[in-house]
Amino acid sequence: MAAQARIAVIGAGLMGHGIAQVFAVAGHEVTITDSVAASLDSAKGRILANLKDLGEDPSAVGRVRPAADLAAAVRGADYVVEAVIEDLSLKEKLFVEIEKYVRADTILASNTSVIPITKIMAGLRDRSRALGTHWWNPPYLVPLVEVIGTQWTSVKAIDRTIALHKAAGKMPVHVKKDVPGFVGNRLQHALWREAIALVEHGICDAETVDTVIKASFGRRLAVLGPLENADLVGTDLTLAIHRTVLPAIEHRAGPSPYLEALVAKGKLGFKSGEGFRKWSAEEQAALRAKVVQHLKNARMNES
Ligand SMILES: NC(=O)c1ccc[n+]([C@@H]2O[C@H](COP(=O)([O-])OP(=O)(O)OC[C@H]3O[C@@H](n4cnc5c(N)ncnc54)[C@H](O)[C@@H]3O)[C@@H](O)[C@H]2O)c1
Repeated sequence: MAAQARIAVIGAGLMGHGIAQVFAVAGHEVTITDSVAASLDSAKGRILANLKDLGEDPSAVGRVRPAADLAAAVRGADYVVEAVIEDLSLKEKLFVEIEKYVRADTILASNTSVIPITKIMAGLRDRSRALGTHWWNPPYLVPLVEVIGTQWTSVKAIDRTIALHKAAGKMPVHVKKDVPGFVGNRLQHALWREAIALVEHGICDAETVDTVIKASFGRRLAVLGPLENADLVGTDLTLAIHRTVLPAIEHRAGPSPYLEALVAKGKLGFKSGEGFRKWSAEEQAALRAKVVQHLKNARMNES
């Protein structure tokens, strides 16, 4: 892909505007579209506010062009990334539509969190150009992008996508098989399943689960992954631990009834003021600010 490519971002919500920002800061020309006018209208303002907050050159927002029309947004694009709501049938239809307007060599990517890319791209005429790119929120602060290939994706499309994201300062990794949740969300939700089970079975309360993680292995996770850790302590010790602990760990195939009950009772977390714990507006704002500051510090320490 050219040093200055034409990128189209579909969906100008939380992820879409942030992805557009990353590509604009990297020097690409970015068009962004959304089916909701208010979302599209706010995209440039949100990007500008982010750039100011990060102390980055605000002129990058000048490379972002909102387009109300899908065809106008993707026509002439070298690379299209979709970040609309997590709805398989909507995503499927969108890509079939997008393929009508783009060149034969345009790469088509979905930022779905967990839906297999194979399902989203099944209806395309040329499925070799289609793949997944799973970013993390906020896209301009979390480095990882999982690049997911399907059985049809060409090596060229994967290589071009990895190069594009590397050049934009991201940390792309190649996920070789298209499985639900890819790598990051499988790992994350394996941990969440056990976290919920510990509360469900009365072993400790929700606050304690989070304290245990944040004050112990969570401290090391940014520099010591689980498999590095297993090698560090020894695979023999890891095996001995697994023989004792794995049979006791939650392994039900579906969601926890405890989680289902919370949702049924309207305990939806921040949005209702209570989920696993109660959250005042001040506590919510403080936690959000803490996360962003932590991510900013991590980014500064890396540079
Ligand atoms: N929020 C996260 O942390 C996160 C992280 C990684 C991936 N994702 C995935 O990214 C995608 C977007 O998530 P989000 O959090 O940005 O959601 P969001 O609700 O903030 O944004 C989605 C946007 O898509 C727009 N939209 C809906 N239908 C559309 C259409 N037909 N055409 C164009 N735009 C349309 C909506 O108006 C909205 O602005 C989802 O697939 C989600 O699973 C989210």
